[in-house]
Amino acid sequence: MRVFVTGATGALGRHLVPALVTEGHEVTATTRTPAKAEGLRAAGAAPVILDGLNRDAVIAEVLAAAPDVIVHEMTALASMRSLRNPDKVFATTNALRTQGTDNLLAAAAQAGTRRVVAQSYVSANARTGNLVKTEDDPVDADPVPGARQALAAIRHVEETVPRAAQEGIVLRYGSFYGPGASDVLLDVVRKRQWPLIGGGTGIWSFIEITDAAAATLAAVSNGAPGVYNIADSDPAPAAEWLPYLAGLLGAKPPLRVPVWLGRLLAGEFIVAQMTSARGSSNEKARKELGWEPRFASWREGFRAWVSG
Ligand SMILES: NC(=O)c1ccc[n+]([C@@H]2O[C@H](COP(=O)([O-])OP(=O)(O)OC[C@H]3O[C@@H](n4cnc5c(N)ncnc54)[C@H](OP(=O)(O)O)[C@@H]3O)[C@@H](O)[C@H]2O)c1
Repeated sequence: MRVFVTGATGALGRHLVPALVTEGHEVTATTRTPAKAEGLRAAGAAPVILDGLNRDAVIAEVLAAAPDVIVHEMTALASMRSLRNPDKVFATTNALRTQGTDNLLAAAAQAGTRRVVAQSYVSANARTGNLVKTEDDPVDADPVPGARQALAAIRHVEETVPRAAQEGIVLRYGSFYGPGASDVLLDVVRKRQWPLIGGGTGIWSFIEITDAAAATLAAVSNGAPGVYNIADSDPAPAAEWLPYLAGLLGAKPPLRVPVWLGRLLAGEFIVAQMTSARGSSNEKARKELGWEPRFASWREGFRAWVSG
């Protein structure tokens, strides 16, 4: 198939593009940066210089490539430092999830592109009730103040893509780790700068980055329209995974801080992630996409990441 990958140089795209090429797909891959084009060509793709927020350019390039499938992996998370004010640090990512998505959907409609696969994130899970959510569970009706726009942007992707594309697939990724993904986490855990807040009862769903790329590759061909959780099979509380990761790194155990201090140090969003977040079940993706994570648990995945 002809596949048009936006965000092709990002944490996920750089694993996805070669995997698509190996499968025999004809890949057009976008970047805003001419200097990155050669890397995309070396990976076997036809590079295109494109800003996802430039609607006319998006439509023109998609029409020129005439893809069967568009993959939307555009975010602007690389320059992110603190999550104290998510709506501020996610502003460009939010625009890529709203305007950027709409631009690609308009282009898909004009080019007759059948399938659109778009990136979402598990943070939209409600933070009450059962500890592990499926795609049928309601999303967070009471988002943390300061993260409302970020959540609204995620919901925009989840609601418009399945509705507007002929075959609209949304992949709600767990937290990435692995080669080239979230290396900052290793750094802060090593330096004991990521404390356990409250009881560390927030449930996290992780996904190793090459497993996330493999799920995306599967979703290019498989699966009915809708939302899919792309996470490993071992949702776990922060109180389990954080000390485990510190142990693997040979670091001292994480500091423990009460919620009020966590709020002061890291802000409400991180407090929610550490104390009340819910995990995500991967059952639907494993059943319907024909995909299995290589690392079923972050335990063995973290070990490979740290020793790699
Ligand atoms: N679920 C998760 O946990 C999750 C999801 C995503 C990312 N992350 C983490 O966030 C960190 C950074 O992610 P990342 O490396 O993927 O970087 P990123 O800065 O989020 O960029 C992702 C991609 O989006 C593209 N992009 C950005 N703005 C664009 C625009 N206006 N138009 C078109 N394309 C645009 C970039 O392409 P060019 O710069 O080449 O134009 C890049 O390929 C990593 O540590 C990663 O693990 C986590």
